[in-house]
Parts: sequence; C-alpha cells; structure tokens
Amino acid sequence: IPEHFITITENLDDAGIVTKHDERTSEKTWTRLVYEKPFGNDLTSSRKINRYLDQVFDEQQIYRIDHYLGKELVGNISLARFTNRIFEPLWNNEHIESVHITLSEKIGIEKRGAFYDKYGAIKDMIQSHMLQLLALTAMETPKKLTADNIRSAKAKVLKKVFVEKVSVGQYEGYRDEAKVDPTSKTETFVSAQLGIDNKRWRGVPFFLSTGKKLDKKESIIKITFKQVECLLSSCPSISNHLTIKIFPDEGLYLGLNTKIPGIANEVTPVNMDFCHNCLFGPNTPAAYETLLADMLKGDQSTFIRGDEVNASWKIVEEMIKKKGKLETYKPGSTGPKKQNNFYKKEQP
Ligand code: BG6
Repeated sequence: IPEHFITITENLDDAGIVTKHDERTSEKTWTRLVYEKPFGNDLTSSRKINRYLDQVFDEQQIYRIDHYLGKELVGNISLARFTNRIFEPLWNNEHIESVHITLSEKIGIEKRGAFYDKYGAIKDMIQSHMLQLLALTAMETPKKLTADNIRSAKAKVLKKVFVEKVSVGQYEGYRDEAKVDPTSKTETFVSAQLGIDNKRWRGVPFFLSTGKKLDKKESIIKITFKQVECLLSSCPSISNHLTIKIFPDEGLYLGLNTKIPGIANEVTPVNMDFCHNCLFGPNTPAAYETLLADMLKGDQSTFIRGDEVNASWKIVEEMIKKKGKLETYKPGSTGPKKQNNFYKKEQP
C-alpha cells in the first residue's frame, strides 16, 4: 500500500541496512528496493514518495514493479518493433489509423473493496498498466534497448499524452460489495480517447478501455493501419491490423487481405498468426518470476522509473477532470451502452 512506502523506506534506513549506491563499492555490496504499484494515489503523493526514495536510495537501486512489464507479450512489444524491419517505417500517423488498448476482466473487485473504492479503474488499471503499454507502443526508437534508454523514451512520450474524452461506468451491484461505500461513485469501467502531441502520432487516436465484471478476460493492443488506395471495383472493407495479444492466446496477429480462391479480383481478410503458446509452450515464466530474476540481475528495463510514474499521474489527473457522467452496466456485459459509443464507432 503506497501510504506505507515512505515509512517502510524510513525504517529500512534507520535500521542501517541500506547502502546507497556508490560506483566504487557497488560491485561488492548492493541493496535494492522493490515496490509494487500503485505508486501513490495522485501526482502529489507520487512526487512525495519519489522524492523521499531518492534521498535514501539511488534511482539505480529502486525497482518499481508493474507486473504487466513481466508478461512475455509485453516484453515483445519493443522487440517486435525494433528487430523487424517491416514495422518501424509504418509506425506513424502516415500509416496508422488508430491504436486500441483493451484490458477487460471478468472478475469483480474480489475482496479488495476498501482499496478499490478509493482508487477505481483509472488509477488501478490506467495509471500504470495501460499507460505503460501505450508508452511501449508509442515511444520513439531508443538509442539501444537498454534500461535507461527505454525508460527515457517512455517518459518522453508520456509527457506528450493528452486526454480527449473519458467515459466511466460502474457495474450493477458494486455498491453492495464488502467495504464499498453504498453511495460510491467509483468507476469500475473506463473508456478513453487519448492523443499524443508529437510528429509521429499527431492525429492518431489512442483508445483505452478497461473494466471489471465484463463479458470476457482479454488484454490486447490493436494497431489498425489506414486503408490502402482502392484499385478494385469491390474494395476490401477491412484494413491491415497488428494485434498484440497479451491474454488469452498470447501472440502477434497480423490481419491481411488476400484473394478469394477462384474469384477474380475479390479479397477476404485473413489472419497471420504467431501463437506464442503453440510455439513455445505454456511454461514460459510467470510475470513475477521474470521480474524478480531481472531485479536480481540488476536489469531495470522492466521496471518503472520515477519520472514515468509522475508523468502517468499527470495524465490520470487530466482524465479524472474529464470524466463523463457515471453510467451503470450489467455484470457480464461489454460495459455501459452509452459509454461505448465513441469507442466502438471508431473501432474497425
Ligand atoms: C492489478 C489490479 O494491478 O492487475 C487488479 O490491481 C487487476 O485490479 C489486475 O485485476 C489484472 O492483472 P492481470 O494480470 O490478471 O491482467
């Protein structure tokens, strides 16, 4: 719980077990601090925590966990982008129509009413998981795929994100959950349209959607490309897309148009599938195993730096200001009907 980060750090320091990173001694001794999100509950508390941690530890010793960064397919975003010649030239507003990032869940708030009611979907899911996915998808090419280069590229793009629209919903029955205020206005669903004010992304909408008690559990990033100029009498209705599936069916899916056999000049959409499980089996390490092993190795590329956290909270605060009217939705549905309008309309 972030309220205790400062106290815990203070006590570790008072107990004399912290060795602040020092270039001369770091080979022999090291102390590393590992905290898991949420990092604060607004920009002010996040800045306060970061400032305090910086007094006791060097940033090189601080490992802020967001378990999404330990997932195989999240690790694959920058590897797929930067080790394949075919993606990077198209990765911009000339060729990309929109980006959808969806983390939907079937479960409710489980037994976390006291925590969740104070946070809600924007702070719980968007502040770290979804903005990290956005940052990895949208960041400029880092000089090298090393921790500080990646983290600088992510922080830079997060500082350029702005909020267009935010719709929020709450599932029916949420207010009856244990430790939830019976008059609560906390959102359990959010769909939002964000933009990025830089040369690469100007004009490309980034749609984020997440919610509890929805119809399915799915974590995906869908990059939709613009339509090609149509040279046929019957034009393809679907443009290319690259879907990064984090859950389920982990993998990369590329949507293409291809000829219908036997029929001249007519195309049909098909998927080229890289199914991660099928190829590598289900036994790839779980997210936390990956992260803890990275921490022991001293590799910070899958951990979040203080400036990224602060930049994300700034976006979250803007989102909270722009929240629309809270609508209710039925458990097991796709979310509130009204809320989905602007989101669905633009989805291919
Ligand atoms: C956590 C959130 O960080 O991520 C939970 O606090 C959420 O509310 C969970 O259920 C989702 O993680 P995953 O890996 O199941 O998609």
